[in-house]
Amino acid sequence: MLKLEQIDVYYGNVRALENVDFEVDTGEIVTLIGANGAGKSTILKTISGLNRPRQGSITFVGENIERMAVERIVSRGISHVPEGRRIFPGLTVFGNLEVATSSWRKRGESYQREMENVFQLFPQLREKKDQLGWSLSGGEQQILSIGRGLMSRPRLLLLDEPSLGLAPKLVRLVFDTIKTINDQGTTILLVEQNAYAALQIADRGYVLENGRIALFGLAKDLASDEKVKKAYLGG
Ligand SMILES: Nc1ncnc2c1ncn2[C@@H]1O[C@H](COP(=O)(O)OP(=O)(O)OP(=O)(O)O)[C@@H](O)[C@H]1O
Ligand SMILES: [Mg+2]
Repeated sequence: MLKLEQIDVYYGNVRALENVDFEVDTGEIVTLIGANGAGKSTILKTISGLNRPRQGSITFVGENIERMAVERIVSRGISHVPEGRRIFPGLTVFGNLEVATSSWRKRGESYQREMENVFQLFPQLREKKDQLGWSLSGGEQQILSIGRGLMSRPRLLLLDEPSLGLAPKLVRLVFDTIKTINDQGTTILLVEQNAYAALQIADRGYVLENGRIALFGLAKDLASDEKVKKAYLGG
C-alpha cells in the first residue's frame, strides 16, 4: 500500500531522516518506535506531505505522492492524526468531526454513517457532541482527534502518539479502538512511546534511531529481541 524508498529529510542543514526504506501492506498495523527525536513524527509528516523529502520516493497504492499537494494526499486516503491533538478549540465536537468530511463530501452528501461509526467507537463523544473543543479534557480531545481522522474515510491512518498523556484506562480504550478500526478495514501506521502496547497490537514494527531504520521485523519478534527490550521495553 505504502512504500518509502531512500528517503532523506532535512530541517535546514540538519538531516532528520537518512535513507529510510519503509513499507506498509494493506490491512496491516505497523508500528514505528524510537527515542525522543529519532524522527518518528518526521516520517509521518513526510508521508502526509507536511514535510518534503530532499531525496527518495513515496508511493501510495501505486501513485507517487512525495510532491503531491497535502489535500490531494488526504483525498487519496491518507489521514494523519498529529502529535498533540490539534483539534479546533472554537468548534464543537460535532463541528470538529464534520470539518474532516470536506476531503470527500460533495455538497449535500450525508456523513451520517461516518459520524455514527465514530460515536459507536467513542460513545463519550456523542454525549459531548455540542461541547466546544477547548472545553474538553485532554483525553477527550485525544479521542476526538482520532475520530476526526476517521471522518476523512482513510485507507491508511497515521497515528502519532495517540496514548500520550492518557490515564491507563483510556490508554487501553485507545489501543482496543485502534485494533477495532483495523478490523473494520483501515490500515494503520502507529507511532508510539508505549512500545510494549504498540507491539502487542501490531503485525510488524520498525525501530528508528537517529533518523535511520535500525531494526525491523514481525512485532512479536521485536518484542522478544534483547536489544529492543533493553532500549524500549524497560529491560
Ligand atoms: N520543524 C523543525 N525544525 C527543525 N528541526 C526539527 C523540526 N521538527 C523536528 N526537528 C528535529 O528533527 C529531529 C526528529 O524530530 P521528530 O519530531 O521527528 O522526532 P520524534 O521521533 O517524533 O520525537 P518525539 O518522540 O519526541 O516526538 C529532532 O532532532 C528534532 O529536533
Ligand atoms: Mg514525535
